[in-house]
Amino acid sequence: MNTKKLNRRNFLGNSTLAGATVLAGSAFAQNTAGGSKKLKFVIIGCGGRGNGAVKNFMEACKIVGVESELVAAADAFQAKAESLAGNYGLDKKKCFGGFDAYQKAIAEDCDYVLMATPPAFRPLHFAAAVEAGKHCFIEKPVAVDPVGCRSVIDTGEKAKAKGLAVVCGTQRRHSASYLQNKALIDNGAIGEIKGGVVQWNGRVPWVRKRESGQSDADYLANNWLNFVEMSGDHIVEQHVHNLDVAIWFLGRLPTTAIGFGGRARRTSGNSFDFFSVDYDFGNDVHIHSQCRQVAGCYNRVGEMFTGTDGVCLGGGKLTGKDVKIPAITVDTKNGQTQEHVDMIRSVIAGKPLNEAKQIADSTAVAIMGRIACFTGKLVTLRDLMEREDSEWYNFACAPAALDFEKGAVKAPEEVAVIPGEDDPRFS
Ligand SMILES: NC(=O)c1ccc[n+]([C@@H]2O[C@H](COP(=O)([O-])OP(=O)(O)OC[C@H]3O[C@@H](n4cnc5c(N)ncnc54)[C@H](O)[C@@H]3O)[C@@H](O)[C@H]2O)c1
Repeated sequence: MNTKKLNRRNFLGNSTLAGATVLAGSAFAQNTAGGSKKLKFVIIGCGGRGNGAVKNFMEACKIVGVESELVAAADAFQAKAESLAGNYGLDKKKCFGGFDAYQKAIAEDCDYVLMATPPAFRPLHFAAAVEAGKHCFIEKPVAVDPVGCRSVIDTGEKAKAKGLAVVCGTQRRHSASYLQNKALIDNGAIGEIKGGVVQWNGRVPWVRKRESGQSDADYLANNWLNFVEMSGDHIVEQHVHNLDVAIWFLGRLPTTAIGFGGRARRTSGNSFDFFSVDYDFGNDVHIHSQCRQVAGCYNRVGEMFTGTDGVCLGGGKLTGKDVKIPAITVDTKNGQTQEHVDMIRSVIAGKPLNEAKQIADSTAVAIMGRIACFTGKLVTLRDLMEREDSEWYNFACAPAALDFEKGAVKAPEEVAVIPGEDDPRFS
């Protein structure tokens, strides 16, 4: 392969200032570019990924050459906020607990807000952070229903108008191996993509049993992964990564989904164990999406695309034509750090990245697959995102984020829907 160097750092650093829009963040960008400003940030959602995102952000600041300071931590549970903050010597007064904790963290003097709560809360928290003028890192997925997806798109537009960066936790889009295969495909290495399969087959990551005396709200916020209303189900929560790669590599969204799924083994919540969806991407191109959370079975996570002239395995082996692309260089092999590097550099350069629509679309595609499997119907993306008279356009899961703040939460029944039967929870 013949390559020409295209360094992401040089690209972001050199390509921006001429013609850059006058942005709310530009004074900040100048400060940061001069190295005189410490990047102050807060974290909302102090679990596994929240702890990871804080480390990734700080590591990214080191790579970029700016200082960073965690100024507040928020979680539904005070103890979790304090546990994360304790690692960074943060005063307990800057640790906020409860369902309105996000508001207190966002109100702190900070430039960046990192969000790693369960997905059901993302649209509300993201809107509050952009309203307050903060750059946002939002973990995937970004919603659990069509109403939430459209809210994230709207908020993304507001962020754009304010010159704020929005980067999301789809780390494959910031990883060298995926970036390289995407560039090869765009330059014809496998010809035209005619079909493929995307998979996340594994086990249930965890179950957090109800503690004695625990309120419905606290139980849901803790055992969120197993409730559709909180996670979107695993086709949304986990498999969105692979669907996002399909959308990215094909360069377009699917139009319809038809599929099936069910539950046989899970003992907690109301999620399915498995989904199998046929996504129609138009031009006679279909992608088979398959995801399963059942222990003791064959596991595979990844993507495969078959083209007229070759085959590509996600960010792995590509067999096809010899084409020339610029070399993709990243700062770190860790995509979860690189996404923060790219976010910070884009702000410094005065050209903030905005991935809100991209991840909202991918989340909506995953939700479309879930609805197809839950109902047994053929579902179109336009039903969710454009057609106001469709049965799905205004569909919103309950309880929703605001119910938690109002103290109006009733835990859903812990049984899954039966496809073909109208279930009032999801139709
Ligand atoms: N990009 C990736 O590879 C990746 C990997 C894992 C998780 N994630 C995503 O990160 C998010 C968090 O996942 P996790 O694995 O860290 O889960 P987790 O359960 O470990 O952490 C979630 C935290 O959010 C807190 N929380 C719940 N409701 C809240 C609210 N309303 N306000 C504030 N805090 C609240 C919980 O108490 C918990 O501490 C999810 O969206 C998940 O899909 C992304």
